[in-house]
Amino acid sequence: MGFFTKDIKTMDDLFVHTLRDIYYAENQIVKALPDMIEKATTPGLKQGFQTHLGETKNHVKRLEQVFKMLGQEIEGVDCPAIDGIIEEADDIAGEVDDKNVLDAALIAAAQAVEHYEMTRYGTLIAWAKLLGRTDCASLLQQNLEEEKAADTKLTKLAEGQVNRKAA
Ligand SMILES: [Fe+2]
Ligand SMILES: [Fe+2]
Repeated sequence: MGFFTKDIKTMDDLFVHTLRDIYYAENQIVKALPDMIEKATTPGLKQGFQTHLGETKNHVKRLEQVFKMLGQEIEGVDCPAIDGIIEEADDIAGEVDDKNVLDAALIAAAQAVEHYEMTRYGTLIAWAKLLGRTDCASLLQQNLEEEKAADTKLTKLAEGQVNRKAA
């Protein structure tokens, strides 16, 4: 983004900028998940992170498809929000000793990530429809559905066993 000139002039520009934000975020999540897989103890949680890593790689691919459909260059823009969420997850994980408590902390961090993604996709889908790009909206919707499912799975894991074992 230019400092002296405002680069976002239209809704189309804002849409592409926000796509680049989530594209950057998804790529950061691909990098962060292996560490979370390694740290998780509860088998269901480890497995859940593993599955979502595969889905997240697919989210990156779907976004690349959206860029292509729009005739836009595939590139990310820095997203300090996701960097902050991931950094906080790292910090907290580094401070927890007990394995069950660590799992609870990992779930809380992962849900913050999922909710960030959900808010971005919710906005992008609404804007895509507004701009008459239902083709892009339906791809983005597929990503959103998987984020929602991942979030629900995390809630079930937390409520089912992890938080109780940690308490
Ligand atoms: Fe994602
Ligand atoms: Fe996700």
